Amino acid sequence: MQTLDVIVHTISLASATSRTYELRAADGGPLPSFEAGAHIDVHLGPSLVRPYSLCNSPREKGRYLICVRRDDTGRGGSRTLHRDLTVGRRLRISAPRNHFPLVAAGHHVLVAGGIGITPLLSMAEALAARGASFVLHHYTSSAAEAPLLERLQNSAPGERAVVHHSDQGDTVRAGLPPELQVPEPDTAVYVCGPDGFMTHVVAEAMAAGWHPGQLHTERFAPAAQAAPATAGDEMATAFTVRIASTGTGYRVPADRTIAEVLTAHGVDVELSCEQGICGACLTPVLAGEPDHRDEVQTPDERAAGDRITICCSRARSPELLLGL
Ligand code: FES
Repeated sequence: MQTLDVIVHTISLASATSRTYELRAADGGPLPSFEAGAHIDVHLGPSLVRPYSLCNSPREKGRYLICVRRDDTGRGGSRTLHRDLTVGRRLRISAPRNHFPLVAAGHHVLVAGGIGITPLLSMAEALAARGASFVLHHYTSSAAEAPLLERLQNSAPGERAVVHHSDQGDTVRAGLPPELQVPEPDTAVYVCGPDGFMTHVVAEAMAAGWHPGQLHTERFAPAAQAAPATAGDEMATAFTVRIASTGTGYRVPADRTIAEVLTAHGVDVELSCEQGICGACLTPVLAGEPDHRDEVQTPDERAAGDRITICCSRARSPELLLGL
């Protein structure tokens, strides 16, 4: 996986609890281009790597913008980032990856919950730049807590954005946005936000008659059913993973992930979210049947069975041969 050295160029407040970090190449050169919806992995420490969506326009070549909300109940990535990232700090990041691309459609409906605005703002800017038909709904708790609100309102997509504040009684639980109440052909829907928000929007949209293939999602945390296996997971059983390049096999017990077993034996693997939501650990499967537990791959990709997220997925067959 390609990594890049960047410098924190500027930091700005994006809401009462969110900050925007502008990253530029440490050598002053250009950064790799990216598609709207892409994210980068930020290396915050030896075993602390976190994915963050890029929220600037893909047309900008010299910088990446990430916006991070401090979550005091999370796993520590956002707290570390808010505490340690200062202007001038050198960072290692991955090259951008995109599991949440815009698709071909006559109209696009973008629905963000809270910090879920980050990829959707970049996507809205890309749609506005190409003159595409779209609307963006941003659901937040209050104007003070709305990440990137000022930038949204002053940007090209601003005139096609509708902002909702729950402290004013305007929540998605009171009803879907008008554009989602009746399914429309040739329309793509993109949803990003906290897990409960996304589960609600997707369930309501499907109940309204939208086809699942029209609904595109990006999660910041795994859905409950996609949690990694534990000793108490009745579906988890032991199996073997074999590394194609060396022929060595490793037993994966029911309470450990493939990634945990491989790293314990010194096998170099790529990891970021370790929750099945970023795709950093997608690994080729050369033989055997994966038991997919991630949120990254599409139904067709899962059915193909030729890649597996080794941070959380398991095996239906006694052995998996991995292209490592
Ligand atoms: S590390 Fe993110 S999907 Fe596995």
